[in-house]
Amino acid sequence: MRVGILGSGDVAKTLGSGFVELGHEVKLGSRTPESDGLVAWKKAAGERATLGTFADAAAFGEVVVVSTRGVENENAIRLAGLPHFAGKVVIDTTNPLKFVPNAMPTLAYGGTDSAGERVQKLLPEAQVVKAFNSVGNVHMFRPKFSGGPPDMFYCGNDAGAKKKVAEWLRSFGWNPVDTGGIESSRELESLCILWVTLGALGGSWDIAFKILHK
Ligand SMILES: NC(=O)c1ccc[n+]([C@@H]2O[C@H](COP(=O)([O-])OP(=O)(O)OC[C@H]3O[C@@H](n4cnc5c(N)ncnc54)[C@H](OP(=O)(O)O)[C@@H]3O)[C@@H](O)[C@H]2O)c1
Repeated sequence: MRVGILGSGDVAKTLGSGFVELGHEVKLGSRTPESDGLVAWKKAAGERATLGTFADAAAFGEVVVVSTRGVENENAIRLAGLPHFAGKVVIDTTNPLKFVPNAMPTLAYGGTDSAGERVQKLLPEAQVVKAFNSVGNVHMFRPKFSGGPPDMFYCGNDAGAKKKVAEWLRSFGWNPVDTGGIESSRELESLCILWVTLGALGGSWDIAFKILHK
């Protein structure tokens, strides 16, 4: 499968390397694809990894992953070209974080809105699935926790797209948990804030969520 990833940060690189390791072809997209960090990532990831612009990555992918700064998603997606997403599964990993000096990040918007919903509205012909947003990038591929595979919450409006994303989540080592339509991004993006709060309070980012069933 061809995977296009919008992003040059830790999430894009980690997911990109994970998809490559699972045998897929990956193109990472950035406004500066020739940057040292991306060139080093490509070299380490091997021949199934390539670089390009946001538009190159979106056009390349049979599935497109959005891993840009949450509050800049719209800009990145417009730079990528809206028609490049039509008919595709789009995985949205983003959180619309607002950073303030000397304080924990908050959500720039939430409660009755979310980045997931905004991405879906911007791309009505794509099937957007929110996933990977509520855990640190270090654990995104093959998470290893003493309690077994952690849960990865995901949501979206299209059952077929969610089924595919659930399979990819399993191949990455997660137990996928369907949390409903794309509006559940409101809760999943808040969960990111809880994850950050727990990490800061506990002094460790080696944490992930798991639902217990009786
Ligand atoms: N870091 C984590 O562990 C983690 C975990 C879960 C979810 N997330 C979420 O996943 C997303 C990616 O996180 P990250 O830490 O890998 O990277 P990031 O630093 O949040 O974002 C970097 C990406 O955002 C793009 N970007 C920044 N400003 C832009 C603008 N004005 N216009 C267009 N694109 C812009 C950059 O484009 P260029 O490449 O062109 O510079 C780059 O590709 C975020 O939404 C984050 O909240 C992060």
